[in-house]
Amino acid sequence: MTQGALHPILAGRRALVVGIANEHSIAYGCAKAFRTLGAELAITWLNERARRFVEPLALDLGATITGALDVSVPGELEVTFDRVRADWGKLDILVHSIAFAPKEDLQGGLLNCSAEGFAKAMDISCHSFVRMAKLAAPLMRDGGTMFAMSYYGANRVVPNYNVMGPVKAALEAVCRYLAYELGSSGIRVHAISPGPLKTRAASGLKDFELLLNEAANKAPLGELVDIMDVGFACGYLATSLARRITGGTVYVDGGTNIVA
Ligand SMILES: NC(=O)c1ccc[n+]([C@@H]2O[C@H](COP(=O)([O-])OP(=O)(O)OC[C@H]3O[C@@H](n4cnc5c(N)ncnc54)[C@H](O)[C@@H]3O)[C@@H](O)[C@H]2O)c1
Repeated sequence: MTQGALHPILAGRRALVVGIANEHSIAYGCAKAFRTLGAELAITWLNERARRFVEPLALDLGATITGALDVSVPGELEVTFDRVRADWGKLDILVHSIAFAPKEDLQGGLLNCSAEGFAKAMDISCHSFVRMAKLAAPLMRDGGTMFAMSYYGANRVVPNYNVMGPVKAALEAVCRYLAYELGSSGIRVHAISPGPLKTRAASGLKDFELLLNEAANKAPLGELVDIMDVGFACGYLATSLARRITGGTVYVDGGTNIVA
């Protein structure tokens, strides 16, 4: 895509993007696409260790709010949203692009996933989106758009996706219920379901290369997606061009999901 030809259709919009680990992160594709379309950015990193990878990317994108955010640490979400309230007074776009499951619980199959591992995966990868939405909604005074990243394994069994399948199914249901509860405030909520992408989170999945090959072979459009494809799809959904679309799962996968 020739990005130079794009109009700044998100000019004046303010977007908080959570989930950048490095330049391969889906969240980075979202942030870069929003910036290309004219939005102003707030970008967080997980912790001090992640900061050296994320801060240069955030500076490069001209982010005006940056800081640490670990959604499992009580109070950190509140600090992030206090900062957004103090500096911007409003928010238009929220991206939740985070997932976690303890390795031993992720890789051992669902039957062997511990109760603690299941709860942790659900808390970080799903319920944190509810907590974020609750803090973001009052700041979306002119309406807004919220995104959470799901995957095809929410609806069909994908070998080795294990506990993340039920977690993503819950996340997609969360998006529907949030869309229902927030619709009257002009806030739209989307689950985005990207095709497989080689990221750090994906490297925790066994035989991920097989998944990539299968997706490339199956995709009606004939190739894998990249993070900018996901970012620009979110960019479009954040504009008023998509003002009547909410609550569903939007596949950005070259059509792979329609093929048996
Ligand atoms: N890579 C894929 O093939 C693919 C496909 C579909 C959906 N997804 C989803 O996209 C999202 C982003 O993953 P990615 O593939 O870009 O990988 P990534 O590793 O680049 O991003 C995952 C992010 O989650 C963050 N995170 C983990 N625990 C956190 C916590 N406690 N608090 C705050 N942040 C935390 C990490 O810091 C990291 O930035 C995830 O929800 C993932 O399940 C990925």
